[in-house]
Amino acid sequence: MKRDMIAVIDFGGQYAHLIARRIREDCNVKTEIFPFDIPADELALHAPSGIILTGGPKSVNDKDAPLPDHGIFGLGVPILGICYGAQVIGKMFGGIVAPAKKKEFGGENLYFKNAPFFEFMASPITAWFSHEDEVAKLPHGFKAIAWTGNCANAAFADAQRNIYAVQFHPEVSHTHSGRVMLANFVKMICGADESWTAGSIADELIAKIKETVGDGEVLCAVSGGVDSFVTAVLLHRAIGDRLHAITVDNGLLRKGDTEHVTRIFKELGVKNFYAIPAEDLFLSRLAGITDPEKKRKTIGRAFYDVFSMFALERLYSYSIRFFAQGTIYPDWIESGRASKHAETIKSHHNAEKLPENFGLALLEPIRELYKDEVRRVGEELGIPHDFLWRHPFPGPGLGVRVIGEITKENTAILREADAIFIEELKKTGEYDRIAQAFAVFLPIKAVGVQGDGRAYGPVIALRAVVTDDFMTARPHEFHFSDLVNIGNRIIREVPEVSRVVYDITEKPPATIEWE
Ligand code: XMP
Repeated sequence: MKRDMIAVIDFGGQYAHLIARRIREDCNVKTEIFPFDIPADELALHAPSGIILTGGPKSVNDKDAPLPDHGIFGLGVPILGICYGAQVIGKMFGGIVAPAKKKEFGGENLYFKNAPFFEFMASPITAWFSHEDEVAKLPHGFKAIAWTGNCANAAFADAQRNIYAVQFHPEVSHTHSGRVMLANFVKMICGADESWTAGSIADELIAKIKETVGDGEVLCAVSGGVDSFVTAVLLHRAIGDRLHAITVDNGLLRKGDTEHVTRIFKELGVKNFYAIPAEDLFLSRLAGITDPEKKRKTIGRAFYDVFSMFALERLYSYSIRFFAQGTIYPDWIESGRASKHAETIKSHHNAEKLPENFGLALLEPIRELYKDEVRRVGEELGIPHDFLWRHPFPGPGLGVRVIGEITKENTAILREADAIFIEELKKTGEYDRIAQAFAVFLPIKAVGVQGDGRAYGPVIALRAVVTDDFMTARPHEFHFSDLVNIGNRIIREVPEVSRVVYDITEKPPATIEWE
């Protein structure tokens, strides 16, 4: 299926993904993110309906400033430059970009003229700025269409050539009607059709899988989380019983995970499903390891070893040629695979390269989707709502939630405490208001008194965050008495635990997981 697509050219930071998500969500138009230096003829092959140049941390006047191939301006499609992207347009068309007389950081009153970009809006509005440079002299053929008290060229355009540039950030929620501006650009100026809907995404992914897999068989790793589950169900729709879904019971899963997944697969008619017991293998490899990155790598490696042992065993009777996993966009961002410029914060095991001797080709059907899109596709596929809306669970599982050494005992304590926490959240309805909640095992001991005796045991930390995109997050604001009740229940029912604490750190500076 040929669908409209907006190309987002990434000049660094997280802007590209925010813009891409907004357009997908608000306009139902596909977006793809490209590195800033993509050659114009390569971009032309993707046939974008419009191009957006994102913000970025550099100054266009820096020696090493990232600049796009000039040829992208000759592709004949509308272009929108945002912040740094606006300065790129200013500079590359012959204007002058210079340090702003007054740097703007935050909300400013924006006054604008009638222009397609500002359709359905009344001047002025509050727009969010974050810039040190500005386009001091407009290039030939461009006219200012918006201004603030400090910035005469807050937005400028060459309406003939459909090139628009805005010094502020329409993609952030602080810009009033920013989403309307993006929609105006995408729908009115680019004329893009609403073809990125859950039903059409599912159809396209299924068709792509059929084409790639041919008559081969696929091994799909299922973790108990939403992404891998949706991947498996998509594969099942595409290739039926040539799907072999496996879940590895590595001793690092939540209470009841394996049983839950088994039941839903059964309900959905997935015949070839295997739960592989591998707790001993994982725990013996993890023995003595306390470094978070080392743990992640060890767990990742152990997974692939179990998968390849399984595939090898079955290769004689089946022709398994592909290995599928549920990698999504955000996994890529933070593991540095999506952008040349992103720094690796944590290695997500499912965003790592496959080991060289793995022997199976990698299939990542939902690698272009954001979490909310995965859920919408899942709903389209008939996966039960409450399963789809489970909080995310990381690939390395409880392995990154048992701080310090991972032992069977510590993991069992954590599993019980976590199950109580989640059960309480569901009971009060709080679960649906939280994006992700879990317990963490801390390897420090604290003194307490239980009954008449002295207690001396480990500490459990509770983490519950609200977030739209998991890139930034805030701690959930509980009623204090609810938190105390949860803590009390954990202490009562998991006697090893001496204390329960609540993590109030935002992301950034913290991450959501502790390791
Ligand atoms: P952080 O801790 O980086 O987490 O703020 C952001 C989101 O990603 C999840 N996460 C992972 N998911 N494999 C995954 O599939 C991983 O290795 C991994 N590490 C973190 C985390 O649970 C949160 O939802």
